[in-house]
Amino acid sequence: NKPITLPELLRMKKGGEKIAMLTAYDASFAALEDRCGVDVILVGDSLGNVIQGKSSTLPVTIEQMVYHTECVGHIVQRAMVVADMSFGSYQESKEQALRNAVRLLAAGAEMVKLEGGEVMAETVHFLVERGVPVCAHIGLTPQSVHALGGYRVQGRTDAGAARMKADALALEHAGAALMVLEMVPAGLAADVTRQLAVCATIGIGAGRDCDGQVLVLHDMLGVYPGKKGRFVRDFMLDAHSIDGAVAAYVKAVKDGSFPAPEHCY
Ligand code: KIV
Ligand code: NA
Repeated sequence: NKPITLPELLRMKKGGEKIAMLTAYDASFAALEDRCGVDVILVGDSLGNVIQGKSSTLPVTIEQMVYHTECVGHIVQRAMVVADMSFGSYQESKEQALRNAVRLLAAGAEMVKLEGGEVMAETVHFLVERGVPVCAHIGLTPQSVHALGGYRVQGRTDAGAARMKADALALEHAGAALMVLEMVPAGLAADVTRQLAVCATIGIGAGRDCDGQVLVLHDMLGVYPGKKGRFVRDFMLDAHSIDGAVAAYVKAVKDGSFPAPEHCY
């Protein structure tokens, strides 16, 4: 079971092997996901919701991201560990972004994730050129919830779809290795995936034609008490253990049975 590397992720995209990504925030769940075959473990700022009980990811700090990345980073053997850059920790300047990305890499992350389209391309390029792999995140970007007017599907208008395709190309050109597409109509996510040659798309509420899928751990285990999105499937319903649920998620992503039409827009 050799570790997942950047060339391996690219090989999976080119070969049509789906990438299974899942969030984790602590060592025990990270180790469980690692042994169940999750390819990419995301220390998401969704910890603001599922760990801290806040109503958005906005209050999460870089110190908290560093702490949870340390909890996850040291125990994982095979999966690639990606850490979210928290709101306000990268938007000021590319230098600020590098400074905080360095803290996440020192804590055990192998890649950082940041939200935003073309406006972040220069920052992505700056990080990538300095040896920091980057996962982009477009579509519904939760750190912009107030600007977007809520958690809603993005790219539904012709102009919005064109904007998203331009954002995706700019981020790929800047060197992003992965790109999360959140709450994007399935057809548009398929178009975006097809137009990217070397950046693998990871969908959440973005249809089945992305190069991979991601869910929040607490959503797919059915333990999050808040509202659950249309794109969530509770894998505990048909499982006898948490290991079983996570293994079923990996299998369903790999064989293309998740997401099903009812999880898509
Ligand atoms: O924070 C998070 O968990 C995320 C995923 C939902 C993509 O950004
Ligand atoms: Na996030």
